[in-house]
Amino acid sequence: MTNGISLAGKRALVTGGASGIGAVTAGILRDLGADVAISDINEDGLDTVSAELAGCPTFVCDVSDEAQAESTVVAAAEALGGLDIAVNAAGIVDEVKYALERDMEPWQRIMDVNFKGTYQICRAAARLMVPQSTGSIVNIASVNGPGGWPRRTAYGPSKAAIIALTRELACEWGPHGVRINAVGPGYIATPMIQGLIEADKVDTERINNRTPLGRLGTPAEVGQAIAFLASDFASFITGETLFVDGGWMAYGGAGDVKTF
Ligand SMILES: NC(=O)c1ccc[n+]([C@@H]2O[C@H](COP(=O)([O-])OP(=O)(O)OC[C@H]3O[C@@H](n4cnc5c(N)ncnc54)[C@H](O)[C@@H]3O)[C@@H](O)[C@H]2O)c1
Repeated sequence: MTNGISLAGKRALVTGGASGIGAVTAGILRDLGADVAISDINEDGLDTVSAELAGCPTFVCDVSDEAQAESTVVAAAEALGGLDIAVNAAGIVDEVKYALERDMEPWQRIMDVNFKGTYQICRAAARLMVPQSTGSIVNIASVNGPGGWPRRTAYGPSKAAIIALTRELACEWGPHGVRINAVGPGYIATPMIQGLIEADKVDTERINNRTPLGRLGTPAEVGQAIAFLASDFASFITGETLFVDGGWMAYGGAGDVKTF
């Protein structure tokens, strides 16, 4: 029995590691003892985060590209001396447009980055983890996976697909000792959400009123859940999506949450 979560000796790759939840998660995994590599499409952001993480290995990678996804996972495993943990934090937001007004090309891009990208990194990681009969993968879904929002007809389905994919792959790879889970964040204060707030596409006050815990979450609160699922503390958990949402999914009432 240990006194807390330890990732000592584990080797972890975090995609989307140049910003937001991915960057903070990489720091948490490292603080818990893991050797961490980060990848992202944003080279400058990678350099900044790597400098904060004692120069951890970085890999420029568009996860939607099959060859890049495959070669990045292999290169990260080579740099780290193996791969025990993969976190899929790369993702993009929706255009926030009504279905009847949107073009297919940006719709497809969201599906390609969020869903296909996650699938491709999972598969490349499992090519290494299945033969070693151990490994843990954590994907990032959203409350917008099970929940429907107007003007999110690519983002929501991409996240619902990640929840389904996580279950499917847990069933395929569980017999080989590889666990795969997801977190489902609610609204989290990251550059992604900040951009939507500034574009008047997200109203913080309404979100706070609709959230039992009454506020946005922090990237660290999501990263801590990811670290738990990645760790041996979650050794009998696979195929699950853990919502990190301040109670958003629990609330089923009409209008705002009331405080008493
Ligand atoms: N912030 C929230 O409220 C929230 C809520 C639910 C789910 N999420 C999910 O959490 C994940 C991280 O989001 P975040 O809020 O930290 O956003 P963020 O924009 O801060 O970080 C996302 C990172 O992904 C990278 N990225 C984008 N496209 C990429 C591609 N094709 N290949 C590789 N990297 C790419 C970006 O450069 C960025 O560094 C996303 O999957 C997002 O959908 C976020």
